[in-house]
Amino acid sequence: MSQESFEPVGEETFARLDPAATAESQERISGEIASIHGVYQESVSDGAGAETQPRVDFAPYRSSLLRHPTKNLHHADPETIELYSPAFGQRDVHPLEADLTIQHNGEPIGERIVVAGRVLDGDGRPVAGQLIEVWQANAAGRYIHKRDQHPAPIDPNFTGVGRALTGPNGEYRFTTIKPAPYPWKNHRNAWRPAHIHFSLFGTDFTQRMITQMYFPGDPLFSLDPIYQSITDQRARDRLVASYDHAVTSHEWATGYSWDIVLTGSNRTWMENEEEEH
Ligand SMILES: [Fe+2]
Repeated sequence: MSQESFEPVGEETFARLDPAATAESQERISGEIASIHGVYQESVSDGAGAETQPRVDFAPYRSSLLRHPTKNLHHADPETIELYSPAFGQRDVHPLEADLTIQHNGEPIGERIVVAGRVLDGDGRPVAGQLIEVWQANAAGRYIHKRDQHPAPIDPNFTGVGRALTGPNGEYRFTTIKPAPYPWKNHRNAWRPAHIHFSLFGTDFTQRMITQMYFPGDPLFSLDPIYQSITDQRARDRLVASYDHAVTSHEWATGYSWDIVLTGSNRTWMENEEEEH
């Protein structure tokens, strides 16, 4: 994966087109979140099922109103599509691509971490041979992307992209740098909690799913309309990794565990591909 091919879609583009968005206060956004969550909790109390996925038109996440899907998906014949889709094998992805700290001549700045876990289906069975791609900001909260103009330093030793194939037991393991929070322009003084983007390819392009992993105890959780677009607390909690001392290694890196569940009522939230941030 080359640096040039790294093109996450940023909120900054939308916010520049709508400068009024940055005039809104966190209080207003937080109030809207609380109101929507209150209605959701009432509906659950009245017997409605728990939600596992984000609201695609979650008003506090301003740009979701304009770009959420308004029409049903068109179902294509997967057999035809699969003829033209790539298949990933062990020889296509080198194990060292899972280490984001060794892509340049020097060590990146920041807290070295290992993120490890398993990819499971809804019945708890491991999903082997799954292509996982990750991308993230650096230890200063900066992406290598021309649209990211946040005045924090770029680290010449950190690109922030990596990939791996899951092993026979669905296991994966990335070595990276803990990303920092960064500002975005959803509203005034809006900051994203620190996160790592994950893409899971399935067996072909039509099955690709994207989500975000967060770090435990982040003080920005309650303020973030993307994280809060998942109305159910347990579903939100499933996006938060656990500090895991068994993954932490002596004098090298702290460790976090995070399992990804692809289907069923405990599935991990997956975002619309157009809503990467
Ligand atoms: Fe991001």
